[in-house]
Amino acid sequence: MARVVVGKTSDIIEGKLTHVTAGGKEILVTNVEGNYYAISDVCNHAGAELHEGELNGKELTCPWHGAKWDVTTGNLIWFPQKLKSEQSFKVSVEKDTLYVEV
Ligand code: FES
Repeated sequence: MARVVVGKTSDIIEGKLTHVTAGGKEILVTNVEGNYYAISDVCNHAGAELHEGELNGKELTCPWHGAKWDVTTGNLIWFPQKLKSEQSFKVSVEKDTLYVEV
């Protein structure tokens, strides 16, 4: 497990979807009500890049077929078929820098 710098917390704006590559993984970073979250950026239905989706509160809608994901947990909220949860990553803040553990 490695701790990787994502960027400045001020760059991770509430309601915005940020894509980073860390530890060879594609990761989506979000800010929901001042708290930071990181899940896999690759939709496990058919591989869409989730940072191109739409965020409404903690609910992220996949840009391809509309699966709804909880960005705070990686859990599936809605889809016509069962999908496994997206991998979620631990985030931490030190001073004004955001880290993700991969
Ligand atoms: S690729 Fe995300 S719902 Fe199909």
